[in-house]
Amino acid sequence: MDNSVTMEKIVSLAKRRGFVFQSSEIYGGQAGAWDYGPMGVELKNRIARFWWKEMTQLHDDIVGLDAAILMHPRTWEASGHVENFTDPLVDCKKCKMRFRADMIDEAKLARKECPECGGELTDTRKFNLMFKTNIGPVDDGGGLIYLRPETAQGIYVNYKNIVQSNRMKIPFGIAQIGKAFRNEIVTKNFIFRTCEFEQMEMQYFVHPGEDVKFFDYWREQRWAYFQKLGVRMDKLRWHQHGPGELAHYAKDAYDIEYEFPMGWKELEGVHNRTDFDLKRHQEFSGKDLQYIDQDNGNERYIPYIIETSAGLTRQLLMILCDAYEEQKVADKGNDDDWRTVMRFHPNLAPVTVAVLPLMKKDGLAELAQEIRTGLKEEFATDYDQSGAIGRRYRRQDEIGTPFCVTVDYQTKEDGTVTVRFRDSMEQVRIHRDELESTLKKAIKDYKRV
Ligand code: GAP
Repeated sequence: MDNSVTMEKIVSLAKRRGFVFQSSEIYGGQAGAWDYGPMGVELKNRIARFWWKEMTQLHDDIVGLDAAILMHPRTWEASGHVENFTDPLVDCKKCKMRFRADMIDEAKLARKECPECGGELTDTRKFNLMFKTNIGPVDDGGGLIYLRPETAQGIYVNYKNIVQSNRMKIPFGIAQIGKAFRNEIVTKNFIFRTCEFEQMEMQYFVHPGEDVKFFDYWREQRWAYFQKLGVRMDKLRWHQHGPGELAHYAKDAYDIEYEFPMGWKELEGVHNRTDFDLKRHQEFSGKDLQYIDQDNGNERYIPYIIETSAGLTRQLLMILCDAYEEQKVADKGNDDDWRTVMRFHPNLAPVTVAVLPLMKKDGLAELAQEIRTGLKEEFATDYDQSGAIGRRYRRQDEIGTPFCVTVDYQTKEDGTVTVRFRDSMEQVRIHRDELESTLKKAIKDYKRV
């Protein structure tokens, strides 16, 4: 059996087990948009919480923000997005397909040859990625407004509010998690590149002379984050942007790339945005956005900004790919020899503990429910009483539940239960009163095999 991890297998498991569904599937689907099912929303929330804790709780000098998606349209003129946030596009005159010019073979592009049908391509045109809509009752262009293509700008326009209301002193950071929208033309590879997605961004405001120091510091911090997240570090690498790749606002930029099933791809970025954004907002708004350093003779300056910019939904895809494993567990020559197991870190798993009565009858179901109720306050729990116990373990393996607690006839007699560990499949018998402490210790000590 071929047990390699492919995107088809990930998409299939994601649908089968309620992680991710195609948006508006009953109408044939909406390209570039996806819905997160019961398991997916739990996983996404846990990743977001993990990032939020890392950025705010564990860094004394970072505070949070939740800014609106709809912003004054001048924001996007100031930020440079109206002018520069474009993809180069070409259309095929014959098959009518549209391509990003930078993703077509250079020789074919030079010959204006369609990579699909060989037909003639149009000249390259600039296509702005921002979604436009209209605010107000009259749709005459006067109410033009954009859906934000990055969460960062909500932070920049609030930076003075936060300095003043929270008495922040440079260096300090502002973190935010929220939706962003881009009219992406190429949306293949499942949730990797979508039109609607979520970002987890942190903007760190520093003295102009200290940007390089803090740029290096944040690169280290972001690398350490993935170590804590428990993903396979040999699947991560750095990629520094060359001069042609740098965004219009960046002086230096590094991506952390992950080796997805379709190859090495950007996971998140660390950018030195200099004073570009605040200078432009000062110019376009006419408001003084200088920082006044009261501890240093009232020195006035526009801070430089180091940005760490991660895609939440892209990180979820990475976690799915990283956790997925088809493992041979027997040698009987049939399908049951293999199990699919999602090796999520217990802090990320949508369900932490599943309680399974061996039988529905003889009061075992009621006893299992009672044990589950006792665990609910501390852990995300599931209960399953249908089918053979082996099948139920496999179901839990597929959603990555790290612990299963089985309740049997002996439980009725002496109060002991079986705890089955997902990764090792080892089973231990303990008293039900020891469950909470045993599971907490196992979570704390967890190391991926
Ligand atoms: N504020 C800077 C910024 O937005 P970016 O490199 O364009 O920089 C940052 O995006 C991260 O957002 C990417 O590394 C990726 O994780 C995520 N991202 C960007 N576009 C995306 C899309 N269309 N779909 C899913 N995630 C996306």
